This record gives sequence, structure tokens and C-alpha cells, in this order.
Amino acid sequence: MSQTKTALVTGGTRGIGYGVAEELASAGYHLILGYRQNQARAEDAKTHLEGTYAVRVFLVKGEAGEESTVDAFFSCIEENFGGKLTALVHNAGAYWQNRAHNKPDANGSWFQGWEAYEFFQGMYPKCFIRLVEKAVTCMEDERGYIVAVSSPGCNNSRGPVLAYITPGTGKASVEYLVRHYAKQLAPRRITCNVVIPGFTKTEAWDPVVKELGAEQVDAFIGSCGMKRWATPREVGGVVSFLCSEKAAFITGASLPIDGGVHLK
Ligand SMILES: NC(=O)c1ccc[n+]([C@@H]2O[C@H](COP(=O)([O-])OP(=O)(O)OC[C@H]3O[C@@H](n4cnc5c(N)ncnc54)[C@H](OP(=O)(O)O)[C@@H]3O)[C@@H](O)[C@H]2O)c1
Repeated sequence: MSQTKTALVTGGTRGIGYGVAEELASAGYHLILGYRQNQARAEDAKTHLEGTYAVRVFLVKGEAGEESTVDAFFSCIEENFGGKLTALVHNAGAYWQNRAHNKPDANGSWFQGWEAYEFFQGMYPKCFIRLVEKAVTCMEDERGYIVAVSSPGCNNSRGPVLAYITPGTGKASVEYLVRHYAKQLAPRRITCNVVIPGFTKTEAWDPVVKELGAEQVDAFIGSCGMKRWATPREVGGVVSFLCSEKAAFITGASLPIDGGVHLK
């Protein structure tokens, strides 16, 4: 059995994905990191991770919803790691057209329309299915870990967030798929879990802060659970644990990492 550990992290160059990448690198994982367009940040991430943790890091640019991006991930795994993958983390996420959705339309509907719906379906469940179907052909039995990143309100542990209907249907599908693949892969002893981060300080919040103002956003965070932001590395540490032998018997779980936000 090969001892090299390799992980593919979508959206692994900034924010929560970078926190995941850093925790996995510190655990000795070599990395394939996906990103959409921010080349400079991707290169900074590679330089820092390789320099600090002495692991190999490969960058793959592409839209998560495109099949060609998933193909490029697996070509990279084939070329650089002999087609072997230990862990898959599907984390990439963004707002539709980089705008937070903070108001219903004139009819009171929060639905953002079918183009936005297709964008989120492509980036969340479609991409996850494509990734998992290929990843499991690259994983050894008893040594494969799959983790998806969801959001608050996409299962029964918390009420729906009205502004999140369009992305939320995509994330909710991913949560279903996690249970499906956990069941399918249990005989191979490959695990599949979903984490549900609470409010985590990343650049994804910039449009919300711009629209509502920092004071209002801070007041909101101060009203939830432990009354503070999560850090990307707090989320990353839990994902890294789920991608370790210590978590070999955890599968099909939906784990909030949110300081109690789901108790609201
Ligand atoms: N932040 C929170 O409070 C929070 C809470 C719960 C769940 N989440 C979830 O956590 C995940 C990461 O969020 P974040 O806050 O870390 O976001 P972020 O700081 O904006 O980072 C997003 C990362 O994903 C990549 N990405 C974005 N859209 C993509 C696309 N269409 N195709 C390929 N890559 C794409 C970005 O690449 P570029 O750098 O090239 O743009 C970047 O690497 C998302 O799934 C989000 O829903 C976040």
C-alpha cells in the first residue's frame, strides 16, 4: 500500500479551502488545489504551502461546474501521483455574479432565476458527482476520505435561510449525495462526510459587508451561538481530522462547525 497521501481541494487557494489545504499540508498531504480565476492568490498559496510544509502543490484553474475542470484535476493526479488519490474535499463556492442576494423581488420571491440555479447546481451537486465518480477509481480500499462543504440551513438542523434558496438547493443536494456515497462506499471502507461551517471570516463576506455595513454584520455575528466568526483553519482542522485514520469509522455524518449556530 502506498504511503504517499494526496488530496484534491476545490476552491483550495483562498478562504476556507485554503484553511483546509494548510491543515492537510501540515498533516503531510500533497495537494491539488482548484480555483476559478485569481491566479496571484493561487500562486501565493502554492509558494507558502510548499515552502512551509515541504509538500508538493499543483494548481488547476477552471470553473467548478465545467466537466473539463474535473477532467483537468484527474489528469493532474494521473501525471503527478500515478493516478492515486487519498482525499477529496469539495469546497468551491461563490455568489452568483459575485453579488450577495439580500432582497426578495417585488413579488416577495427570493428565487434568483434559472440561470443562477444552473450555476449553483453545476458548482455544487453536479461537480460533486463528477468528482466522486472519478475519485473512487483513484482511491484504495480502507484509505479514502471524501468531504463536502455545505452551509447553514441546508438540512433539518437549522431553519432555511430565505436568501439562500438558489444556492441552498444545490448544497442540500450535496448533503443527500454525501449520505448516498457514504452508503455505497462503506463496504470499501471509504468515508464520505459533510461539514457545515458557521460564519467564517473570508472574502466571501465582502459583498455583504459592502451592502449592509460592517456594524450590522458584526451585530449579526454577535447574536449567533458563540458570538464570533470561525477561522478558516478551525474548519480546516476538522476536515483534516475527517481525512485521517482517526476518523476511519465516521461516515455519512453532517457535522456543524459553527459554535452553536445550528442551535438557533
Ligand atoms: N465563509 C462562510 O461564512 C461560509 C459558511 C458556510 C459555508 N461556506 C462555504 O465554504 C465554501 C468556501 O467559502 P469561502 O468563504 O472560503 O469562499 P472564498 O473565500 O470566496 O473562496 C472561494 C474559493 O473557491 C474558488 N471558487 C469560487 N467560485 C468558483 C467556481 N465557480 N469554480 C471554481 N472555483 C471557484 C475561489 O477561486 P478564486 O480565488 O479564483 O476566485 C476560491 O479559491 C463555499 O462552498 C461556501 O458556501 C462558507
